[in-house]
Amino acid sequence: MNRVTELFGIEYPIILGGMVWCGGWRLAAAVSEAGGLGLIGAGSMHPEVLQEHIIKCKEATHKPFGVNVPLLYPEIERIMKIIIAEKVPVVFTSAGNPKTWTKTLKDEGIKVAHVVSSSKFAVKCQEAGVDAVVAEGFEAGGHNGIEETTTMVLIPHVRQAIDIPLIAAGGIATGGAMLAAFALGAEGVQIGTRFALTEESSASDEFKRLCVSLKEGDTMLALKKIGATRLIKNEFYDKVKAAEDSGASAEQMKELLGKGRAKRGIFEGDLVEGELEIGQIASLLNDLPPAKEALGQIVKEYNEKVKASFDMF
Ligand SMILES: Cc1cc2nc3c(=O)[nH]c(=O)nc-3n(C[C@H](O)[C@H](O)[C@H](O)COP(=O)(O)O)c2cc1C
Repeated sequence: MNRVTELFGIEYPIILGGMVWCGGWRLAAAVSEAGGLGLIGAGSMHPEVLQEHIIKCKEATHKPFGVNVPLLYPEIERIMKIIIAEKVPVVFTSAGNPKTWTKTLKDEGIKVAHVVSSSKFAVKCQEAGVDAVVAEGFEAGGHNGIEETTTMVLIPHVRQAIDIPLIAAGGIATGGAMLAAFALGAEGVQIGTRFALTEESSASDEFKRLCVSLKEGDTMLALKKIGATRLIKNEFYDKVKAAEDSGASAEQMKELLGKGRAKRGIFEGDLVEGELEIGQIASLLNDLPPAKEALGQIVKEYNEKVKASFDMF
């Protein structure tokens, strides 16, 4: 037991990060059933779709689960209303100001965590009254901090800055990486890429197969002017890079990105023109196991490494 398992009422301090186009009820329920905390990624769902996913998740597991809500979401009021009405026990917010929703959610008895990429914003989270902070490093899949602070550097900084429970994210897909994060002061891990590449992930087979074939250096942080995002190098990325190198404005980058490109890439499997979001650590992964097996492997390796480290000197 530690503060993170106690806070959420879970067996292992392993959180499934909310993920657009990957993290629906199937994946969230599978991670919760395996003893972690599954989060449904609301960022790619209309409110009615989210409600359906919440209902199905409740049918599939009696264990705690949550919803991730990027706060820039246009229909945020309706999303939050549904979360409260459906009595979702946990909400992880991201991409916005933690002050906006934390009190409302906590007044309803909901546990709240917020995702940050710097210790400055971690302090703001603590002041806003969140129950836990997720500190996400530059390695991570999805949207990212523009300062490019790595998980290895970020975690000790955030640990010094706040007292509340700290969850590390970015580049963690193995028990060894989880142990490293704990050694630096984290009390839980939030994992995206490893769980995006499992059977229950709703990403397309084309996307999953490409991700498990990636090598070191095959993803890059791009789109810094309009929302830094880690992308697989494909033809769309090449266009982004060329535009950025030629000094394109935020408006021009928005136009190039257009609408629905992440859906096209991740969900529909357009590997050429789609926006393909995945973390650096995909290069280490070469299988697509069930989520329970992925989580079990991390816990097993964590325990083995803890034991081995006692014998080291
Ligand atoms: C495909 C994909 C989509 C993501 N979508 C979201 C999202 O909607 N909201 C969010 O807060 N984080 C999102 N993330 C970030 C994850 O929740 C998690 O913090 C991150 O993946 C952790 O790093 P890792 O990929 O190295 O495990 C996404 C990540 C991936 C790979």
